[in-house]
Amino acid sequence: MAIEQAAIEEIKFRNNIEDVISQYVTLKRAGSNLVGLCPFHSEKSPSFTVFSNEGNFYCFGCGAGGDVITFIRRAENLDYRSALEFLAKRVGITIAQNDNDKQEARRRERVLEMNKLAARFFHEKLMSPEGRSGYEYLTKSRGLSLSHIRHFGLGFAPNSFGALTDLLRSKGYADHEMASAFLCGVSQKTGRPYDYFRNRVIFPILGVSGDVVAFGGRVMDDSKPKYLNSSDTPAFKKSRNLFAMNFAKNYCAEQIILCEGYMDVIALHCAGFTNAVATLGTAITPEHARMLKRYTKKVIISYDSDGAGQNAADKAFKLLGEVGVETKILRMNGAKDPDEYIKKFGSESFRKLIEGSETEFEYKFGKILSKYDFGITSEKIKALDESEKLIAQVMSAAEREIYIHAAAPKLGITPDVMKRDVDRFISRRDKIAAAEASKKIMLESEGYGDRTNPDYIKNPKAAAAEEAILALVILHPEYLREISKNGNPLTAGEMFTSLGKKICSAILSILEDGEESCSELEGKLGEYLEVDEMARVTKMCIARRSLTNNTLEVLRECRKTLASAKLKSELDIQDIINLKRKKSDKESN
Ligand code: GTP
Ligand code: MN
Repeated sequence: MAIEQAAIEEIKFRNNIEDVISQYVTLKRAGSNLVGLCPFHSEKSPSFTVFSNEGNFYCFGCGAGGDVITFIRRAENLDYRSALEFLAKRVGITIAQNDNDKQEARRRERVLEMNKLAARFFHEKLMSPEGRSGYEYLTKSRGLSLSHIRHFGLGFAPNSFGALTDLLRSKGYADHEMASAFLCGVSQKTGRPYDYFRNRVIFPILGVSGDVVAFGGRVMDDSKPKYLNSSDTPAFKKSRNLFAMNFAKNYCAEQIILCEGYMDVIALHCAGFTNAVATLGTAITPEHARMLKRYTKKVIISYDSDGAGQNAADKAFKLLGEVGVETKILRMNGAKDPDEYIKKFGSESFRKLIEGSETEFEYKFGKILSKYDFGITSEKIKALDESEKLIAQVMSAAEREIYIHAAAPKLGITPDVMKRDVDRFISRRDKIAAAEASKKIMLESEGYGDRTNPDYIKNPKAAAAEEAILALVILHPEYLREISKNGNPLTAGEMFTSLGKKICSAILSILEDGEESCSELEGKLGEYLEVDEMARVTKMCIARRSLTNNTLEVLRECRKTLASAKLKSELDIQDIINLKRKKSDKESN
């Protein structure tokens, strides 16, 4: 069952595209439009544009584009329907559930029920004689108290292939349901389910609403794999959940401590740092970054001090920087991770580490300073070079100025000289970026590297005419009626590329249900098209809107052009590439 057209209109109307996008991107006014740094690719100068009047966005750098629904599909990684629900919720509208959704919700509920039973089962086992080894491990080896164990609901999975599976079966859950919840695996040989977590201490993972959404299980010795974690289930996506967020959410408005491991988070909470969270056996994702941005003003990265932890920190800086949340990092000496640090040096010491946490620049500059020996000229030059490149990456000129003044004395040069070098790096980099962008635009205008519409290159003339037709129809759906009246209705078969055919038939089936204005038509198209295809629609419409002669007559002309271009045999793509190559060889000689 599709969502009612009226509901889509209402959702789009109430979710002003500027307001929605502003929550993800810092937008600045540029004429009647708004521009900002594209959230879908990394860039240093803004090519992401919001056309408020048209209710569209388009990135001239990476070609992402569409309406507010498409934006949410991309930004939140949702399908069309979930994006609509997301936006509906944002403005307090409820959408009637269809049968599919009801089934999905039911599956999710069943997983949550099983998880709840499993969490209780694991916890009871930990407290029973059977769980003695787990209890001793947690209390003796890891120093946790009974109240900590209760607070986190820790558990123990006995060394049995059927204990949990039997329990769940007795409660009426089918084997395939247990498997979908990742509580059991299924034997390849017999097809029978068996307990997934065995002989491990269990860390239940709670969603922010308090439901048990997943589990992590750790061995109690040095065997491998050290941890088993639930994979994604109908109730859980690891790229969108953070361990202990259910507790931290009440203490994290000012800052969050982001760790790597469950044990780090537990140790921190026990030491009074109730704003600590960790990703779940995965590196930080863009979704995590957006989630953190929603909860807090500042993230303190508190990763392991080994090489892997430091590489992970670079990624965290990048992703958190992209969503625009202030980010700092802890530098730990004498311990491999926060858990060990607190055990060795105490919580007061850790508090000092937080106070002394560094910005991305301080941290990276510190690494450069410690990497090179300044007594050796060639090393000093390398340090200078790396520092200048680092500063050149900073967007704000004011910030660069501050860094230059901080760094220059340490490198033994004057700020003036350093500034000149940094400016040179910036202009060189901008030139390269501009050249690459124009090359990309040139190639794309000729259809090269076009993954969304691979047919384009086969006959650019026909494809261009087709785009004009589609854009005209989207901007002026009333033209369709006109041309039908004259006995020559538009058909999808008339289009040249497969994408064109797909867009055309989507338009025709939407319009069958009645007249639509432009933005509603675009909103509806999202139900039929992928996000990249939606971006193409937006691009066509932008191109068309910039022209003044969007008349019915032009539509008729374009149809004629398309028909005659289609008649000409399709050019062989290899011929075109060879021709191009010859031409550019000539130019470079
Ligand atoms: P301890 O050794 O108990 O202190 O563990 P830790 O919590 O400090 O974890 P560690 O720093 O070794 O790893 C960080 C996180 O990565 C863990 O909390 C797990 O989520 C995940 N992880 C670690 N080892 C494995 C593994 O073998 N398999 C999987 N899937 N995840 C792992
Ligand atoms: Mn650890």
